Amino acid sequence: MTTVLEARELTRYYDVSQGFLKPAATVKALNGVSFSLQAGKTLAVVGESGCGKSTLARQLTLIEPPTSGSLLLDGVDAAKADRATLKTMRTRVQMVFQNPYASLNPRQKIGDQLAEPLLINTSLSAAERQAKVRAMMAKVGLRPEHYYRYPHMFSGGQRQRIAIARAMMLNPRIVIADEPTSALDVSIQAQVLNLFMDLQDEFKTAYVFVSHNLAVVEHVADDVMVMYLGRAVESGSKEQIYSRPLHPYTQALLSATPSIRPEDRHAKIKIVGELPSPLNPPTGCAFHKRCPHAVERCRSEVPSLRPVEGHLVACHRAEEINV
Ligand SMILES: Nc1ncnc2c1ncn2[C@@H]1O[C@H](COP(=O)(O)OP(=O)(O)O)[C@@H](O)[C@H]1O
Ligand code: SF4
Ligand SMILES: [Mg+2]
Repeated sequence: MTTVLEARELTRYYDVSQGFLKPAATVKALNGVSFSLQAGKTLAVVGESGCGKSTLARQLTLIEPPTSGSLLLDGVDAAKADRATLKTMRTRVQMVFQNPYASLNPRQKIGDQLAEPLLINTSLSAAERQAKVRAMMAKVGLRPEHYYRYPHMFSGGQRQRIAIARAMMLNPRIVIADEPTSALDVSIQAQVLNLFMDLQDEFKTAYVFVSHNLAVVEHVADDVMVMYLGRAVESGSKEQIYSRPLHPYTQALLSATPSIRPEDRHAKIKIVGELPSPLNPPTGCAFHKRCPHAVERCRSEVPSLRPVEGHLVACHRAEEINV
C-alpha cells in the first residue's frame, strides 16, 4: 500500500475577538490530528457540526497553513516544499465543497469552467482541452449540450456533478470532499455517492470524505476517523467502527443514526447536551460532560489515542466498558 497523504499532529488555532474590552481568545478548532491515507482508498471523517472537520479539510488542501504539525503528500512535507513544488502539490489535492453553487462561477459556461484547470496547469491545445472536458462530462453524467450552459441552469445534484468533474480534471491523487451530499435531496445523495465510487474505481483517487452523517459515510468509507472537539476519538477500518465501536461517543453517534442496520446496533445511547465550545473546552476528556461512563479520572486526564482491539480509541475506560 502506498501512503499518499499523512497528517502528523495537525493543529489549527484561530484567534477570535470576544468583543469590546474583552481579551482575544483562542479557538482550538483542530487539536493534534494524525492519520494516513492510502492510494485509492477513502478515509471518512465524521463528527458533529463544529468538531473541526472543515478546518481539517482546509489544512489538507493546503488552503491554509496549520498552526503546528505537518502534512506530507507522497512523502513530501508541504511546509518544507519550495514554491514550485507546492504549486504541483496543490494540483494533486482537489476539493469538493458542500455547496457547489458557491464554488462555481455564475457567469462562466460550464465547459469553460471545467477547462480552466487544464488551461492553467497544462500545455494542451484548445481542442485537446475541449475533448478532455467532454469526456469528463460524460463520466459524471452530464450531457454534451451542457457544455454551453451556466450554473444556474442546473439542479443541485447536477451542480455537484460539475464540481466533482472540475475536481477530477487534473487527475488528482486525492480529493477532499467536505459534506459533498449534505445540501442535496436524499434521493439525489445516493447517486452522487455512487458517482464518487465509480470515479474512484476508474482513477484510483484517494478520498478524504467529511460528513456529520455516519449513514452516508458507511457507503463510501474504507477507514473511519471519528472527531470530537478538534481531536480524533476513534479511528479504524469501517468494519471495526461500525460493528464494534469502542468509544462512547462513536457508540452514541451510531445509535442515533436511524438508517444503520438496527439489528446490530448497540443499546440506544443518547448524546445529551451540546457540543462544548472549543473556546472553553472541558478539562480531561472533552466528552466527559456527556458521557454515561465518565469517572473522576475523565475530568482531569486527557485520554490519549491508543490501540485497543486492533484500532485506535481515546478513552480511559475502553476495555472496561466494552466487555
Ligand atoms: N476562521 C475561523 N475563525 C474562528 N473560528 C473558526 C474559524 N473556522 C472555524 N472556527 C471554529 O472552529 C470550530 C470548528 O469549526 P469547523 O471546522 O467548521 O467544524 P465542522 O466543519 O466540523 O462543523 C468551530 O467552533 C468554529 O466556530
Ligand atoms: S475517557 Fe471517560 S469521559 Fe471520556 S469517553 Fe472514556 S469513559 Fe467517557
Ligand atoms: Mg464543516
